[in-house]
Amino acid sequence: MEIIILKSAEVVAATGAELVAELLRVRPNAVLGLATGSTQLSLYRKLVEKNHAGEISFSDTSSFNLDEYLGVAIGNPQSYRAYMDREFFDRVDINKDNTFLPSCEDGQNPVLVGPRYENKIRESGGIDLQIMGLGYNGHIGFNEPSSSLNSRTRVKTLTQQTVKDNSRLFSESEFQPKLAITMGIATIMDAKKILLLATGDDKAKAVSEMVEGPVSAMCPASVLQMHERVTVLLDETAAARLRNREYYEWTYLQNESLKQRFGIVHEG
Ligand code: GLP
Repeated sequence: MEIIILKSAEVVAATGAELVAELLRVRPNAVLGLATGSTQLSLYRKLVEKNHAGEISFSDTSSFNLDEYLGVAIGNPQSYRAYMDREFFDRVDINKDNTFLPSCEDGQNPVLVGPRYENKIRESGGIDLQIMGLGYNGHIGFNEPSSSLNSRTRVKTLTQQTVKDNSRLFSESEFQPKLAITMGIATIMDAKKILLLATGDDKAKAVSEMVEGPVSAMCPASVLQMHERVTVLLDETAAARLRNREYYEWTYLQNESLKQRFGIVHEG
C-alpha cells in the first residue's frame, strides 16, 4: 500500500483529484469506480473545478458506483444516484448513459441486480481506478464486517452501527434503509488501481486496522493489503494511530524524487 499523509482534508481532496487527472490524461476513456459519502464531496468539488477549467474531461469515461440503497427510489434525493447526479454527474461533461449504480428498479428482484452489474463491469473492460472511502467499522462499499472476502455484488444488510452512523443524513420522518446492494470485496479487488480517501479522527481506528492490522473479514478494508496498487490518502487526524508513520513519510519522499526523475512510479 502506498500511504500518503497530508496536512488537511482539503489537500487530500486536491491530491485525489490530481491522481484522477493523471489517469485521464493518459486514458481519457478510463472506467472509473466511484463512491458516495461525505469524504468524497470535496473530491467531487475539485474534479468539477478541473473539468470547468478545461484541465480534464469526463466525456469519454464511464463509471460504476460501489453501492446503492435498496428500497430508496432512484428519484429520491437520499438515493446514491441522486447524490451522484447532484454532486458530480450533472456538473461535469460525463455522458450520464455511461454512469451505473447497482440500483434495483421498482418491482425488480434485487437478487438479480448483482450478477447483471458484474457482467456490465466485465463488458466495460473492468474498472481502471476505484475511488472509495472507509466506514468507521472498516467497511468498503457496504461490505460490512464479516463479509466474505470473496464476495461479489449482492444485497447486503447494513450493521445497526452503520444505520446509526448514517442516520445523521436522514430526517426523523424519512425512511432509512437497512439494506443495500454493494459491489463485493472481490469485485473491488478486480479494479486495476484503488484510491482510498479517509479524513478525520473518527476514522483513525479503522485506518490503522486497514493498514497495519491482520487481513480479516472483520475489517473488510484490510483486504486491500492484498491488492497490488492501492494509494491511501489520509489527513493528519485519520493517520494519528499509525505506528509505522515515519516509514510512510520517508517512502513518500523517495517516491516523489523518483517521480521527478522518471515520471510516475508506484510502490505497492
Ligand atoms: C457509506 C458508504 C461507503 C463510505 C462510507 C463512509 O457507508 N457506503 O462507501 O465509504 O459511507 O462515508 P463518509 O465519507 O461519509 O464517512
